[in-house]
Amino acid sequence: MLTSKRWRLLGAAAVAAAALWGLAHLKAQDSSKQIARGKYLAESVAACGHCHTPRERAEPDMTRHLSGHPASAPAPKSAAVDLIINEGVFISISPTMTAFSGPWGVSFATNLTPDKETGLGAWTEEQFIRAMRSGKHKGDPEGRAILPPMPWKHYQSMSQQDMKDMWAYFQSLKPIRNAVPKARNQLGNPLD
Ligand code: HEC
Repeated sequence: MLTSKRWRLLGAAAVAAAALWGLAHLKAQDSSKQIARGKYLAESVAACGHCHTPRERAEPDMTRHLSGHPASAPAPKSAAVDLIINEGVFISISPTMTAFSGPWGVSFATNLTPDKETGLGAWTEEQFIRAMRSGKHKGDPEGRAILPPMPWKHYQSMSQQDMKDMWAYFQSLKPIRNAVPKARNQLGNPLD
């Protein structure tokens, strides 16, 4: 026979287990809500895939969604100075619509999937938010400026919760291995 003290102990353990299960469940619900909201923000409001998803004949290739400029795709030729001055051509864009050549050099939309080596997999949430708010490469205050046409200025005042939700969404994606080329300066030299 169990003594009443034992019963009470068992009861307490059951209550604790139920509470823990409840907490874990709530947390899972929380993170799936966060991911859904982040998806809504990134896809339907801020249109990150507009530049970060490569296109095939003008249509976004959803098998490579948000994986950035394809490593093997050509970069756009830079608009020659006389074209800029005489023809008003300011920027040229790769056929995938993920690489951009302009007066700043050449920029390549980066891989936002959580691949550890080529995407955001090795970034921290804090780094992501700092990059989005400060316009500094990898969120490093000493880093180079993030180049156009990444519209970070239009995103920098999004709320902390919005940023966290977008981060949760990107981290929930299937990692796609795609080593996006490094941005280049006006002389064609790679930037770090
Ligand atoms: C108009 C095109 C465009 C849109 C829209 C866009 N990006 Fe970018 N993004 C770029 C380009 C180009 C780069 C590369 C810039 C560079 O290398 O300096 C970039 C770079 C980045 C980087 C890396 C920054 C770094 O530290 O080097 C992150 C993170 C990023 N974008 C997130 C986003 C998110 C999140 C959204 C949507 C909220 C978004 N981008 C929308 C074009 C775009």
